[in-house]
Amino acid sequence: MRFTGKTCIVTGAGSGIGRATALQMAVEGGRLVAADLRLESAQATVDQIHSAGGEGLAVACDVGDSTHVQAVVAAAVKAYGSVDVIVNDAAMMTFTPIVEIAEADFFKVIATNLGSVFLFAKYGVPHMNDGGAIVNISSVHAHRTTQNVVPYAASKGAIEAFTRGLSLELAARKIRVNAVAPGAVDTPMLWNNPNVKSGAEKITGAVGRPEDLAAAICFIASSDAAFVNGATLLVDGGRLAQL
Ligand SMILES: NC(=O)c1ccc[n+]([C@@H]2O[C@H](COP(=O)([O-])OP(=O)(O)OC[C@H]3O[C@@H](n4cnc5c(N)ncnc54)[C@H](O)[C@@H]3O)[C@@H](O)[C@H]2O)c1
Repeated sequence: MRFTGKTCIVTGAGSGIGRATALQMAVEGGRLVAADLRLESAQATVDQIHSAGGEGLAVACDVGDSTHVQAVVAAAVKAYGSVDVIVNDAAMMTFTPIVEIAEADFFKVIATNLGSVFLFAKYGVPHMNDGGAIVNISSVHAHRTTQNVVPYAASKGAIEAFTRGLSLELAARKIRVNAVAPGAVDTPMLWNNPNVKSGAEKITGAVGRPEDLAAAICFIASSDAAFVNGATLLVDGGRLAQL
């Protein structure tokens, strides 16, 4: 029960890795604030938490929007008093070459994937208890990538740099900041990816389950990982080890 008495905000909690993480944290005693663009999906996650005897609430949120992020933090503080864990999981991809992509679409990816990590730090950290943890979800695309996903790959690379830098700023309060970089995981995001559908991005080797990622994220967010800070944990079934 590593999250007993702890308030955990998880974005993208309505599907895939975010949902599996929210469910696991709740099973281990966490009070979940499940944030998602689609309120009904976040609510479905919270309904599952309640059915299992856990505690949580759902909040509609576009993580790239400052007022929405502030509202999520306010909802967490109103319900539970403070925040212990923030998992920045929600993200989006585009599949357009850089010279063709609309400026607005490029900046939307950056705002959703990277801006959200900044906003939850800026507005969440002042309400976090000392000893808390932030886990930012990166991707193998921060390290190796395919054509036409530059905004996504760049945002994920920046998340890892942001994670290192923020870990230094929060060390005095013993708030650890780490990233988890998933490989291919069996979620809608993987199978809806046009590059995966066309074979341009080959899914060779292991495909992880959302629960595999949840296990790693819960480890990093818990006191089991008390000496892990500023790090990126690659959780890809060995995909990047392959030449
Ligand atoms: N599935 C994979 O193979 C894979 C690989 C590497 C990294 N990742 C990363 O894992 C994370 C979770 O991905 P997933 O595969 O579970 O995806 P998913 O599509 O199953 O879930 C993503 C969730 O985020 C929500 N969301 C999207 N945009 C949002 C926004 N602006 N505000 C709030 N919520 C929003 C969606 O509604 C959805 O519920 C992402 O950061 C993704 O980049 C996934």
